[in-house]
Amino acid sequence: KLPIVILISGRGSNMLAIAERAANGELPVEVRAVISDKADAAGLAAAAAMNIPTRSLSAREFPDRPTYDVALAALVQSFEPELVVLAGFMRILSPGFIATFADRILNIHPSLLPLYRGLHTHRRALEAGDVLHGCSVHFVTEELDGGPLVIQSQVKVLPGDSESTLSARVQQQEHRIYSQAIDWFARGRLKLREQRAWLDDRPLEAPVIQ
Ligand code: GAR
Repeated sequence: KLPIVILISGRGSNMLAIAERAANGELPVEVRAVISDKADAAGLAAAAAMNIPTRSLSAREFPDRPTYDVALAALVQSFEPELVVLAGFMRILSPGFIATFADRILNIHPSLLPLYRGLHTHRRALEAGDVLHGCSVHFVTEELDGGPLVIQSQVKVLPGDSESTLSARVQQQEHRIYSQAIDWFARGRLKLREQRAWLDDRPLEAPVIQ
């Protein structure tokens, strides 16, 4: 089983979807730890209830981002993961952190990247009048929300959708496509090489739509 560490900041529904699939044998991974930058993240308690080791590391105790990220990288590394899974981890990671885990950090983002990098993606899609929205899994590189795309799910925007109804439908898809991407990685089918995502030894010209 592939050892992974999951980083969260909040509710942790993606983390739980992954941990539950790992626990019931659907995903060939071992969740070594769940780590949060927020001590009160609801996801930490949920992970602990599943007997997964949890840690929190608050940025307030550190003078700047690079110093925090050195400590965070050391904490993550202490669990010896082969994949670092960002699941609603709401901090930008510095180049030093990314270099420590080069080629083995995945992120989920609630938009059809390259549309809507950053925050408030559902609101921005609604305000733009988009008929199609969704979510993306990508490898993490130094470019914020800009690393090579792996898989996307498209979600229709319905008349009368609010941020909360739309985000709820997108989140269901997040849980599905993140598990798929992690499954591919764990089975050695998905790699980051030469700054591109490769699936089954072929470079992805575009993300898999699923
Ligand atoms: C998810 O929707 C994820 O896509 C988003 O945060 C949410 C976390 O939910 N991530 C980002 O916006 C990253 N910039 P969760 O804690 O229930 O998994």
